[in-house]
Amino acid sequence: MTKMESMHPDRKRPTPGIRIVNLKELPESQVDEIGNLFRHAGDYSQGKTEEELRMMAAHSLLGIRNIRKKERRGFGFVAVDSETKRVVGLGQAMPLTDKFSQGSPLVEAVRNYASPKVAVFLYNHVVHPDWRGRGIGREIHQARILKAVEQGYTHVVHLVLPANNRRKSLIPKDAKCLGEFDFNGRKHEAYLQRIE
Ligand SMILES: CC(C)(COP(=O)(O)OP(=O)(O)OC[C@H]1O[C@@H](n2cnc3c(N)ncnc32)[C@H](O)[C@@H]1OP(=O)(O)O)[C@@H](O)C(=O)NCCC(=O)NCCS
Repeated sequence: MTKMESMHPDRKRPTPGIRIVNLKELPESQVDEIGNLFRHAGDYSQGKTEEELRMMAAHSLLGIRNIRKKERRGFGFVAVDSETKRVVGLGQAMPLTDKFSQGSPLVEAVRNYASPKVAVFLYNHVVHPDWRGRGIGREIHQARILKAVEQGYTHVVHLVLPANNRRKSLIPKDAKCLGEFDFNGRKHEAYLQRIE
């Protein structure tokens, strides 16, 4: 399939039949479904054993539940198929000053350009393969950026696998490349984007 064939013809507009929902407003009955997305994450999950995928999903769900209970800062959005109510996409964000990232080389790299206090780190961006190329990934991404601006952040950090061109097209050309960092056991490129 060519790039053009796989895309929704007007993907800068909301994708028909899809609702972008704040993680905090997702009905509890749908939260467990998020775990399934990681089984289909492609590059993101490639080379991982069933057990590792289960751990990734469980870890992500735990983080999501903590955000929902307000025990952890951060936010996220899911894409829900209005007809089947299935969760078909996810994107999360976490303040760089969250305790998990304290002292990490990534935080230190950001410090060269901006205070880590004003930056959020974007992660767990996944769209189910059956739904890719229709603008859902971009919609989730834009919802995260708008929320970050609304919460007073001025920068976002993108972490992307070096070969992930689809994900890279969501990073503006003027974003600052911070170098390579280990995340989830793999080398990722990090980019710092100003969002004011
Ligand atoms: C990255 C991901 C979330 C994007 O979701 P998506 O719904 O397919 O994204 P969109 O349809 O909104 O397209 C986003 C951009 O990708 C590009 N793109 C879309 N379809 C493409 C295709 N078939 N081939 C290459 N690039 C493509 C487009 O350039 C688009 O940008 P544009 O709107 O400026 O043209 C999805 O591919 C995915 O889940 N990948 C596996 C998990 C992953 O790698 N996550 C990122 C971790 S680094």
